Amino acid sequence: MTEPTDKTQASRRRFLTGAAGLAAASASGRALADNAKNLPPNVADWTRALGEGVGQRAYGNPSKYEKDVARRTVSWLTATPESSVSFTPLHTLDGIITPNGLCFERHHSGIAEIDPNDYRLMLHGLVDKPLLFTLEDLKRLPRVNRIHFLECAANSGMEWRGAQLNGVQYTHGMVHCVQYTGVPLKVLLEQAGLKSNAKWILAEGGDAAAMNRSIPLAKALDDCLVAYRMNGEMLRPEQGYPVRLVVPGWEGNVWVKWLRRLKVGDQPWYTREETSKYTDLLENGKARKFTFEMDAKSVITSPSPQAPLKQKGFTVISGLAWSGRGKIKRVDVSLDGGRNWRTARIDGPVFDRACVRFYFETEWNGEPLLLQSRAMDETGYVQPGKDALRKIRGVNSIYHNNGIQTWAIKPDGEVENVEVG
Ligand code: MTE
Ligand code: CO
Repeated sequence: MTEPTDKTQASRRRFLTGAAGLAAASASGRALADNAKNLPPNVADWTRALGEGVGQRAYGNPSKYEKDVARRTVSWLTATPESSVSFTPLHTLDGIITPNGLCFERHHSGIAEIDPNDYRLMLHGLVDKPLLFTLEDLKRLPRVNRIHFLECAANSGMEWRGAQLNGVQYTHGMVHCVQYTGVPLKVLLEQAGLKSNAKWILAEGGDAAAMNRSIPLAKALDDCLVAYRMNGEMLRPEQGYPVRLVVPGWEGNVWVKWLRRLKVGDQPWYTREETSKYTDLLENGKARKFTFEMDAKSVITSPSPQAPLKQKGFTVISGLAWSGRGKIKRVDVSLDGGRNWRTARIDGPVFDRACVRFYFETEWNGEPLLLQSRAMDETGYVQPGKDALRKIRGVNSIYHNNGIQTWAIKPDGEVENVEVG
């Protein structure tokens, strides 16, 4: 019995040595780590001893080696952490689904920690029968699953006057895409019965900001959800546990978290968040109000300033695209700052008002590049360049910046946020 085993080990060792030689060669002369005790042909530490038993990780976390995959904040951006934002590390992710623990957070008054037993959703105003729902009541109603992106209207808001923040996490990280489970808002409204003059809905949060927004009734009846799950598990506290409003394709601000009240009315309420905030000041001094829909947008997530190119040769360029008006139809990539465009490969599912993942494979041999991506949605809308956007919107805006992003690739593979037209 020993003979074949030995032979197998010997040939395996030969093969592994060959493989290690290849790896060393492809690492372009980089020396192998001094401490190679865990590298082939040695038997690694983790193969020599039993691992941790099951049950130690009642709710699992990523590997300790992935600790850089984290939300980040920008300390100078906001005065307090309670009214602030953390950003999704887009450069570390792939596919279309954002892991729950990495979804960016935007709160106006911190995270409300709601005891689900004390949770109530009030529905009143221009209805035949005002209703009060417990969480259990909501869970008993017919439910649906929908994958949608949520983008804060202020995403890329720092970039209106030129390239500012060096990292896709900061320029574009106020977006996430998860699967929601919840009750269509229409079901609740039908239970309450709408008066004939009902036209708008006020959605209000149970956080200290009691953040509230007016939403046209037509949208509420069309596709809004009163959601309690994300990616299968209950909503995270920072995403509105136990219940948030899902408003597909519309700016993140109307997706009220910790949802406590829905009031039906015949006109908008003109709350703070739809007058002094979340309106777009134009060059002529007038402000756009109720810019609900998020325009089509895309960004290359890798390479990007936080994910530089480490090797020459075959290179995968990857990014995300989304539109508040429907499905993404096509994404183009340019290597030369928008002079030439090639169609990227979309891989994975393409859902209505959800992120899509695109790839563009190329050979990179150290030449400087100006990387851009451009999204097109099923309405025919094409993501504009920054100059084209500024022609329409001026430079006084904060919200709804969907201009084309440019990353300059340097000969050493480092990446910088720059602007070309
Ligand atoms: N809802 C309440 N109650 N309070 C808030 O501060 N922030 C809004 C919206 N809903 C907010 C809220 C804003 S501006 C955005 S962009 C989204 O929630 C962010 O959702 P997220 O934290 O799940 O990413
Ligand atoms: Co927002």
